[in-house]
Amino acid sequence: MSATKNTITWTKKDLLGLEYLSKEEIELILDHAKSFKEVLLRPLRKVPTLRGKTVANLFYEPSTRTRISFELAAKRLSADVINIVKESSSIQKGETLIDTGRNLEALKIDIIVVRHGSSGAPAALSRAVDISVVNAGDGWHEHPTQALLDIFTLREKLGKINGLKISIIGDIAHSRVARSNIWGFTKLGAKVTVCAPKKLIPKGIEKLGVKITSDVDDAIKDADAINVLRMQFERDEKAAFPSKIQYFKNFGITEERLKRAKKDIVVMHPGPINRGVEMSAEVADGSKSVILKQVTNGIAVRMAVLYLVAHHKRNI
Ligand code: CP
Repeated sequence: MSATKNTITWTKKDLLGLEYLSKEEIELILDHAKSFKEVLLRPLRKVPTLRGKTVANLFYEPSTRTRISFELAAKRLSADVINIVKESSSIQKGETLIDTGRNLEALKIDIIVVRHGSSGAPAALSRAVDISVVNAGDGWHEHPTQALLDIFTLREKLGKINGLKISIIGDIAHSRVARSNIWGFTKLGAKVTVCAPKKLIPKGIEKLGVKITSDVDDAIKDADAINVLRMQFERDEKAAFPSKIQYFKNFGITEERLKRAKKDIVVMHPGPINRGVEMSAEVADGSKSVILKQVTNGIAVRMAVLYLVAHHKRNI
């Protein structure tokens, strides 16, 4: 891996959210991810950096991209990996997150990657164990590695983040991706707009320094990039949009809508996509979309995160 230009060092045991990182720490992760991406382009996509370490993926909620991406990232760093899913573990018998975590520590695991339905669960686990904890998405709170890969992909595409206009469109209220995106993009100097039906805009979100609108054409108009979020109908207890057809009509991203946007607007989505709800299939698969690039970049970003938390003690 080539040396990075950063002058700061990583001292954190865990990655719990972008709220708790400085601009410099975010840039440190991005720059390490850039170096790891070079590794992934080699014929032999593997480095011995985490040989002898063990990473446990502890997932209490379903996942395709994040879990596989963390597993691949750990394997590309030569770590051993174990995957624990709720349905086939003692979590099913009522074991608590903290007890599970302490047992993983007793089994000499080095890093726990945790996805949990409750906001704050990774932070609670981090306080209970001395080993590293990485948040792979907690409730409606944060999904830091998703935002890091979103930022990485946009920086790679447009060369910078500072000064960009980025609109996050969709179910802001239930979205941990939205919160991590807001923290990350604003810390790096982007101007962020959030766009959602009024009932899906959380109270006080403007305190995070974002512009708010419920007019999707207004959100798209001057944007350099849009990050379109999954409409989480399963969590929409306020029934902000009971009909998927109506949601698509009012908020769906279509080729027609993008005709009124900047010519080279970048379209992102964290996945999984509801085609024909948040965006049309033509947009998802079109030339402005970087959705699959985001997925690919997720491996390099997660390699960077695993590498940094695993080596945090050396840098203190
Ligand atoms: N973007 C994302 O978190 O996808 P998964 O739920 O498949 O991990």
